[in-house]
Amino acid sequence: MSKKIKVALAGIGNCASALMQGIKYYDANSNGKSNDSIGLTAFDLGGYEPRDIEFVAAFDVIDSKVGKDLSEAIFAEPNNTVKIANVEKSNVIVEKAEVLDGLGNHYRGKVQVSDKPPANVAKVLKESGAEILLNYLPVGSRQATRYYAEACLDAGCAFINAIPVFIASNAKWQQAFEDRKLPCAGDDVMSQLGATVVHKTLVKLFVDRGVKVDQTYQLNIGGDMDFYNMLDEDRLEDKRVSKTSAVAAMAPYEIPMRIGPSDFVPFLDNEKICYIFMKGRYFGNIPVELDLKLKVVDAYNSAGVMIDAVRATKIALDRGISGPLESVSAYCFKHPPVQLPYSVAKSNFLEFVEGKKER
Ligand SMILES: NC(=O)c1ccc[n+]([C@@H]2O[C@H](COP(=O)([O-])OP(=O)(O)OC[C@H]3O[C@@H](n4cnc5c(N)ncnc54)[C@H](O)[C@@H]3O)[C@@H](O)[C@H]2O)c1
Repeated sequence: MSKKIKVALAGIGNCASALMQGIKYYDANSNGKSNDSIGLTAFDLGGYEPRDIEFVAAFDVIDSKVGKDLSEAIFAEPNNTVKIANVEKSNVIVEKAEVLDGLGNHYRGKVQVSDKPPANVAKVLKESGAEILLNYLPVGSRQATRYYAEACLDAGCAFINAIPVFIASNAKWQQAFEDRKLPCAGDDVMSQLGATVVHKTLVKLFVDRGVKVDQTYQLNIGGDMDFYNMLDEDRLEDKRVSKTSAVAAMAPYEIPMRIGPSDFVPFLDNEKICYIFMKGRYFGNIPVELDLKLKVVDAYNSAGVMIDAVRATKIALDRGISGPLESVSAYCFKHPPVQLPYSVAKSNFLEFVEGKKER
């Protein structure tokens, strides 16, 4: 069992930037400033601290990032999340990957694709010793996500899927990872206090308190490349399924609902604003309505969750557990193999970490 967790990154956008900066932020804290662990399930999770995560390989496709040291690429345009930490040189050069469907029409209009030849992803993964690959591609990257999942199977690398393309929740891919004796977790990371967990918890609260929910919507706006990319409605199908299924699973009856990314507002940068509306009836058929506005810096909202997902996947590797990680996925992702209310998912996750639950 190695103490370091060797991780490769696919897609060096705002999320990768927040993850790397977050690890530095908590590393500084562990070296004397404080033992702060806000946003992490635990500072020490199953023997692993955030600083045990070591980046060993990275892939992107655009000119401003490919060929750069990873520590520079995370601050390259069009990334626009806030800076919370200095990241020293990593000696990991961002490799060019196949573009496939990674860049949609909107994205292509804002960036320059690198003219470097694509690397052999499986070979880079093998040579770097990567144990886990994190998939952080733009929404709608179905072919490109499958290309990285295949590369992981070739290279003997676990796969964590932060995006709404269905791998950990798809039976064919579950079997492929099981057959290769590798774990996978996903799909579509669920932010620490994001629209999905708030909305699913509210629906569960209404249902548990006997309120009949008649209608609900969740509209989201932001000003980063994630939201710009999601202006391509044809890339959004899986995102809507992922977000809607997480909320719908909290009620024993069908609720008319509309959930998803709604617009791009450039000056918001990496801030995301979510509006949730719920309408229902309680005792005596009396109407009740709820309107909620949530404002967050989007990329940091998922970074702590991913640090937990990476550490739990490493624990699975240490224990020789393969196939879809049900408790890790239900706790950290919106579209897991098994959808659970948040509190159940958290206790299953902790039992898994403690070795009381197999997967
Ligand atoms: N809280 C959150 O931020 C959150 C929550 C859930 C899901 N997600 C998802 O995580 C993903 C990453 O988000 P982000 O904000 O970092 O996006 P981003 O647009 O900032 O970064 C995506 C990166 O992927 C690169 N890319 C495109 N095609 C590629 C390919 N074939 N190979 C390698 N790289 C490629 C782009 O050049 C870009 O650098 C998105 O799909 C987003 O929806 C984010």
